[in-house]
Amino acid sequence: MHDDAARLLAEVAILEDYWAYPGSRLMTTVGEALKERNAAVFARVVQKISMALLTGSYRQEPAAWDPLDEGEGRGADMLLPPDVLPGNGHKPYFEALVVTPNDPRGWERARNDLRRLRRPEDSFVYEMVQVGSFEDGAIGAIFNTNVQAVVLYDGFEFRSRHDLPVMRDFLLRHLHVDEASVAPGALATTLARAIKSYRPELDVYLLTDRAVEQLAGSEEAAPIRRIFHNVEELMEVHLSILDGVSERYDTPYFANLKKYAQRPIGTFHALPIARGKSVFRSNWIRDMGHFYGTNIFLAESSATTGGLDSLLEPTGNIKKAHELAARAFGAKRAYFGTNGTSTSNKIVVQAICKPGDIVIVDRNCHKSHHYGFVLAGAQPYYVEAYPLTQYSMYGAVPLRSIKKALLDCKAEGKLDRVKVIDLTNCTFDGHMYNTRRVMEECLAIKPDLIFLWDEAWFGFARFNPFHRRRTAMGAAAALTARYRDPAYRQEYAAFTAKVGSLDPKNAKLLDTHLLPDPDKVRIRVYQTNSTHKSMSALRQGSMILVSDEDFHHVEGMFEEAFFTHTSTSPNLQIIASLDVARRQMELEGYELTMRMTELALKLRREINTHPLISKYFRVATPEEMVPAEFRASGIKDYGPPTSSWKDVIDAWDGDEFALDPTRLTVICGAAGFDGTQFKGLLAERFDIQINKTSRNSILVQTNINNTRSDAALLIKVLAELSREIEARLGQGGPAEQELFAARVKSLMTDVPDLPNFSHFHDVFRDNPKGVSNEGHMRPAFFMAYDEANCEFVKLASKDIDTRLKNGPPLVSAHFVIPYPPGFPIMVPGQVITEETITFMRKLDVKEIHGYHAAHGLKLLKPDVLAKHKKNGGH
Ligand SMILES: Cc1ncc(COP(=O)(O)O)c(C=O)c1O
Repeated sequence: MHDDAARLLAEVAILEDYWAYPGSRLMTTVGEALKERNAAVFARVVQKISMALLTGSYRQEPAAWDPLDEGEGRGADMLLPPDVLPGNGHKPYFEALVVTPNDPRGWERARNDLRRLRRPEDSFVYEMVQVGSFEDGAIGAIFNTNVQAVVLYDGFEFRSRHDLPVMRDFLLRHLHVDEASVAPGALATTLARAIKSYRPELDVYLLTDRAVEQLAGSEEAAPIRRIFHNVEELMEVHLSILDGVSERYDTPYFANLKKYAQRPIGTFHALPIARGKSVFRSNWIRDMGHFYGTNIFLAESSATTGGLDSLLEPTGNIKKAHELAARAFGAKRAYFGTNGTSTSNKIVVQAICKPGDIVIVDRNCHKSHHYGFVLAGAQPYYVEAYPLTQYSMYGAVPLRSIKKALLDCKAEGKLDRVKVIDLTNCTFDGHMYNTRRVMEECLAIKPDLIFLWDEAWFGFARFNPFHRRRTAMGAAAALTARYRDPAYRQEYAAFTAKVGSLDPKNAKLLDTHLLPDPDKVRIRVYQTNSTHKSMSALRQGSMILVSDEDFHHVEGMFEEAFFTHTSTSPNLQIIASLDVARRQMELEGYELTMRMTELALKLRREINTHPLISKYFRVATPEEMVPAEFRASGIKDYGPPTSSWKDVIDAWDGDEFALDPTRLTVICGAAGFDGTQFKGLLAERFDIQINKTSRNSILVQTNINNTRSDAALLIKVLAELSREIEARLGQGGPAEQELFAARVKSLMTDVPDLPNFSHFHDVFRDNPKGVSNEGHMRPAFFMAYDEANCEFVKLASKDIDTRLKNGPPLVSAHFVIPYPPGFPIMVPGQVITEETITFMRKLDVKEIHGYHAAHGLKLLKPDVLAKHKKNGGH
């Protein structure tokens, strides 16, 4: 027992070198207690450390660091909501990682020296963690999520004093460095670059004896925030560290709003609720004031003066907040939206498309894109995602289909009209594109294409080094660097020598990795994200990120589009929450997203390996969600025994599609539940809320707010339900078992085929005989405004079958969008096929936007279409 404890402690002790807490005093006490076999002291101190770590109380309480302090501490307080605590004295805590060649025996003294520099007016407190080598510096930045700043003292060595083969492999994977690849004298700058590529939000400082003046202007020093000559004052470094963190902490809009709320202001504008006077004095609605508290009313205003700035014409703190968001998310520009990504998408579509432009778009995109095309007059060229019929859901659009669409347009001489590629990344169900590869190959066919990546679910991904490689902004940055690199010119020259010019009739191009011309390529990327879906923003808080080299050509239209769709009374609290969400992600996004990913992986493993639960429920694995042809790595699942971290990174780097592990498709059909029924059961019996369902599954999304207790709750519920099913089947005998098997079969195997987009009716197409399928959706949409142009046919009626067989074709008058799955199975002007009717007839969901069973399908009348054709169409 004692030996086990000693062995475990020795293992843990290595990792503790990379964290300030518990630190040497506490660890020494634990070690001595073990040596002296003093179980009471050992248990007390270990418990104290564990409590402080779990609650985070060590960040605030000096007593948590003191082995002699036997008090209870206020650890649990840290977990309470802020309004039940006094709170004002709270100073955020962080750690600064120092990589130094100095003798470790002097480290404790240096830490104490630093503590002496603390002043009451400092906004933050921090502790120093010293390590002595490149490897330890890199490991510290990766593992210690408290680290906000890294200070490099030039002259440290490469190798860690610990023998860490697994870590070494990890470093090579993540940071692409090993001892042999680092040029002599470049250890510090290489480490700075490596750390910034892994955690771009960190501030890195360098202290060196070298000619700092020369180094400061060099490319190799670009990732370093400040360079100091070694002999300079420690105080300067200390102040720089605090300053760097305060730049990320700064929330210009939120800070001003808080200040505004404190001021006595008389309001004579149209928002009676502002300052709360219509509420607090009311005889009848005072409870609203109690419920929401005072501040929300004090912070309300319809003014854009008094430092509040205007979302529509930002010149002050909203402008500043936008700039900070752009920096944080790796974009050139960022814009806040207060009406969800539904509106952000329409803004971007309208900004980048004009009537007649062709947009190659995933038909399963959120409806806001489709409505955006109607408004902008853009012509959608629908491309299909691969179906996952067994779960009644779609995956994502294969690159081959997108390339084919582009090459078809090229063959038909309309490539110049193709303006945008519009895709959802990741999809609702977690399919992540290989954003770099998609853009690279599309740009090879048309070098000035614009990409709109709807990352409604994926905003958090920027802050997680695993996910980041698959984001729009991550790819935009990577491609910009790639095409500027002289080595790329050689690669491109070799490619053109081999492939020649891109002849659209050459079918081999579909299976060749195409490369864009570095002299022509433009990086033009737009991303929208529902900040409220994955970060701490209030509902409807959304952002538009822009990384467009030619934005100066778009900016005017972007403004117009923003004015078209944005309320002149945007919600101040939403704007403030976007500012704060950005602050949080820049300071703790790494920790939160790493933790959420780990939690999701645990959940996946626990459900799928649990002997009882896995009989009835399972989480769909990457192997089940991504067909083998898009998974060249062959990865089957996350984690041992099927894969290591190295395999996962390889798969995420190379595969066409990867599955975001934080989105769990839990198959409930084998337990006899359809998705809607199971969702209802979870909500009613267990107070568990989920959002999306399919015929036989529910989607469990993990997020930065989820805790291990949440995971435990879900597992407990699945175990309880599994036990109930077992008991029911046991007691019910063969009759019950047969019934159950039939239900499972119906849910799991008798699934309806998913209908593909058919085509627009000929009158809405420029060239009905052409291969490309884009169409004029806008005239079709507005044709339905005249009731006389429309007819209704009941879904069950024989008329439908007769017309499917003998014509005239059934042409949809508007969008029909069932929830789930949530994408349009009919769009205005689309010819409805038997596939779609069969799907509609089998559909067992209640919510179908654009369809009322009592009326039937709304169609454009055949004679109206004929007349339209006679008049020249469109
Ligand atoms: C892919 C996608 N884009 C956009 C949206 C709309 O976002 P919001 O709810 O922020 O308006 C959603 C909503 O579910 C979505 O799934």
